[in-house]
Amino acid sequence: MKIGNVFIPNKVVLAPMAGVSDKAFRIIAREHGCGLVYTEMISAKALTYKNNRTKEILNLRGEKQPIAVQLFGCEPAVMAAGAQIAVQEGAWLLDVNMGCPVPKVVRNGEGSALLENPELAVEIVRAMVQAVSVPITVKIRTGWDRENIVAVEFAREMEKAGARAIAVHGRTREQFYGGAADWAIIRQVKAAVSVPVIGNGDLWTPQDAGKMLEETGCDAVMLGRGVQGNPWLISRVCRYLEGEELPPPEPLEKIKGALKHLELTIKIKGEEAGVREMRKHLAWYLKGMKHTAPYKEAIFKTKKKDEVVRILEDYAGSVLGSRMI
Ligand SMILES: Cc1cc2nc3c(=O)[nH]c(=O)nc-3n(C[C@H](O)[C@H](O)[C@H](O)COP(=O)(O)O)c2cc1C
Repeated sequence: MKIGNVFIPNKVVLAPMAGVSDKAFRIIAREHGCGLVYTEMISAKALTYKNNRTKEILNLRGEKQPIAVQLFGCEPAVMAAGAQIAVQEGAWLLDVNMGCPVPKVVRNGEGSALLENPELAVEIVRAMVQAVSVPITVKIRTGWDRENIVAVEFAREMEKAGARAIAVHGRTREQFYGGAADWAIIRQVKAAVSVPVIGNGDLWTPQDAGKMLEETGCDAVMLGRGVQGNPWLISRVCRYLEGEELPPPEPLEKIKGALKHLELTIKIKGEEAGVREMRKHLAWYLKGMKHTAPYKEAIFKTKKKDEVVRILEDYAGSVLGSRMI
C-alpha cells in the first residue's frame, strides 16, 4: 500500500490509542512487524503553545518510519501550524482525529464532532495539505449515531479535500467502544473512494483480520484493543496474511514480553512515571492467565521497577513453575 508517496510495507497498522500507542509500544509493535504505526492523539493547539508534555508525546527520535502522527483540533490554522511542527519532529504522515468520542473533546467541536461538520473538516484537511508536503490522512467513525451514518459521503469529501488515506472505525460516536463494529460500512467507503482505506474495529484474532480484508476489500487492517498486552497479535496477523498460522504466546513468553515493555518504558519515561504507566499494560499482559490477582495487586502498589520485576519473576516461578532465565 502507498499513502501518497509513502510506501507501507504490509497491511498491518497499529491504531492511535491515547495512553497505549506511546513510543515504547510503537517500538514493540515495529519489532512485531507492524507496517505502519500511529501516535497517540496530540492536541494541535497544545503543540503550537509549545507545551512540553505534548512535545514529549511527539518524540519520534530513533523510531523506524513510517509513523503517522495524529493531531486533534478544530481550527484549520492551528491544525496547519501543528502539522508543520509534527513534520519538523519527523512525521512522515499526518492524521486528523475525526473519531474521538470523549465529551471533553467533542464539546470543543473536535474528534467525532467533525463528522457533524463536514465543511469544517474539509477546511482542516485543505489547510494541512497546503501547510506541509507529507500526506494527510483522516480517521473517522461511521457517523454520530445510528440515524446519522455519514461515512461514505464524508470520506468522499475528505478525499476531495486532499486526504490520501481514510481509516474507518466501524462504530458510531454514540457507540463509543460498545456493540459490534459495522464492517459493511468499511466496504462501502472502500467502494466510494480511490485512496487507500484502512479498516478498524473488533480485530481480536488473525482470522478476524483476514476476514475484514476479504469482506470489505480494505487496503490494510488497523489493530486497536486487540493488541493491548498482546503485541503478538501483530506478528500473528502479519504471518497469517502470508499464509502461516502462529499460535498465541505461552504465559512465560508473555511475562518476558511484559518485562521488556517495562524496561523500555522506564528507559523512555523514567522509573516512577514508567512504573505507573505500565500498571495497566501489565494487567493486560496478565489477563487470561491463572492466579494473577495477588500479583496484580502487588504491582499496583509499588513504584519501584525492581519490585515489579521481582513480582513477575515470582509469578513465573510460583505459578507457572518456570525460571525466567
Ligand atoms: C484506550 C484507547 C485509546 C484510544 N485513543 C485513540 C486516539 O488517540 N485516537 C484515535 O483516533 N482513536 C483512539 N482510539 C480508538 C482506536 O484507535 C480504535 O479506533 C478503536 O479502539 C476500535 O478498534 P478496536 O475495536 O480494534 O479496539 C482509542 C481506543 C482506546 C481503546
